[in-house]
Amino acid sequence: MNKLQLIGAFVMAFCSVTVLNAQDATITVKPSEDAPTISKHIYGHFAEHLGRSIYDGFYVGEDSPIPNTDGVRNDLIEALKAIKIPNLRWPGGCFADTYHWKDGIGPQEDRPTIVNTWWGGVTEDNSFGTHNFLNLCEALDTEPYLAGNVGSGTVKELADWVQYVNHDGTSPMADLRKENGREKSWGVTYWGVGNEMWGCGGNMEPEFYANLYRQYATFMGSWNNEAGLYRIASGANSADYNWTEVLMKNIPKNLIDGVALHHYSVIDWGAKGPDVTFSEEQYFTTMKSSLFMDELITKHVAIMDKYDKNKEVDLVVDEWGGWYEVQEGTNPGFLYQQNTMRDAMIAGTTLNIFHNHSDRVKMANLAQTVNVLQAVALTKGEQMILTPTYHILKMYMVHQDAQLIPMDLDTPDYELNGDKLPAISASASKDAEGKTHISLVNIDAHKENTVSIDLSELDIKDFSAEILASEKLQDHNSFEDPKHIMPEGFKDFKFKKGVLEVTLPAFSVVVLEGK
Ligand code: AHR
Repeated sequence: MNKLQLIGAFVMAFCSVTVLNAQDATITVKPSEDAPTISKHIYGHFAEHLGRSIYDGFYVGEDSPIPNTDGVRNDLIEALKAIKIPNLRWPGGCFADTYHWKDGIGPQEDRPTIVNTWWGGVTEDNSFGTHNFLNLCEALDTEPYLAGNVGSGTVKELADWVQYVNHDGTSPMADLRKENGREKSWGVTYWGVGNEMWGCGGNMEPEFYANLYRQYATFMGSWNNEAGLYRIASGANSADYNWTEVLMKNIPKNLIDGVALHHYSVIDWGAKGPDVTFSEEQYFTTMKSSLFMDELITKHVAIMDKYDKNKEVDLVVDEWGGWYEVQEGTNPGFLYQQNTMRDAMIAGTTLNIFHNHSDRVKMANLAQTVNVLQAVALTKGEQMILTPTYHILKMYMVHQDAQLIPMDLDTPDYELNGDKLPAISASASKDAEGKTHISLVNIDAHKENTVSIDLSELDIKDFSAEILASEKLQDHNSFEDPKHIMPEGFKDFKFKKGVLEVTLPAFSVVVLEGK
């Protein structure tokens, strides 16, 4: 063999092991003992007094023929318990800064009504209030996250709410709670200090809100916040980096635990496009907006790092999800939309982004739980259906409180009309029992993609997997066909000599378990 032949033979041998088809994705895992834990609170939910979320979604009333516990439908409680929701945000949203909690306690006949000015202008009877919500959280075994009214409330009102739900001794508010039938406090840790203060929360300048925040946060706790309240400042609207900058600069760290961020996957606020009959162009633009979450977090975190090197303040993405035009024939103020495979793509990729930023992103809330925006459940009378988004949360819950396995991802593009997006999204973690989980998403609307992962550094013997896929991107579960999209067992992968090769169908999500 001459020198050239020798080089050729060497190249051939080398290629057969490591060089993949140019279109394949490769992942290099970088397991590290110092890697952060993926906080389970990234899997938080959000229930606002909006449309059919609370009334007719969660709460059907004790006298309803629909099986319920204290007025909350049992099928929904069961479904949410099955995905281990770690926290639930309430009562808004924009509604929070119009809500006066004292209107929702005590005998029903004494409760005033409230006009829901932001959402459809409907009049509510305040029958679902603080006790209902906090008891529901107990039934769900989830942590409540109360959003306080800063926009139209007072410092005293919020301080009183904290006392009412958290004080176990004798105090005017604790006594009132006991009079209303609840002896023991609920011990609420998570508190939002207003919502979208740059918009529906009062159209404030960040400097003004930062001062207001300091005042509210001071009176919610005591000297050193001995009660351990986790106070979250109303955060930026998507790429408003100045908002985060001003808050981080102007709020002392002893007064703040989390700074929020809201970002919706929306095509164009003036033309959001249909929920089901969307085109591929609209799908592509939605995914572009969804994947933008990665850049947003990176940039907001860089600002936070400037003022908080030790990562004492968390980033809390307490509103995220897809936002489209409402279903035809429904109240435009109720934000009721169907949930398709597009939403599964949003959920899968967004959660991967959160995992990969879990050193700073410690909490997030999908908007919203039921009958509003990217819901996990939709109801119609006695019927309830679970959406593709629900199934993604169920498949992904193995990552809750597991240790992140950092990775480098090299992905092919999903191209449309000369524009491109990364086709593959991925994240991995190791749970307390030592099981490895890898979540892979292929957003390409047409092409299957193969992902190759060298896992030789991890001691894994075997893999099992589940997939969520369907024939069309527009596919969804309906009241007529509630199980059209369901996770299924998946076998299209090979695991040989520590290298895992997975073939992902177009627009699919796969979660693998290795042990
Ligand atoms: O989730 C719906 C609305 O979106 C919330 O009320 C508000 O905070 C955001 O603009």
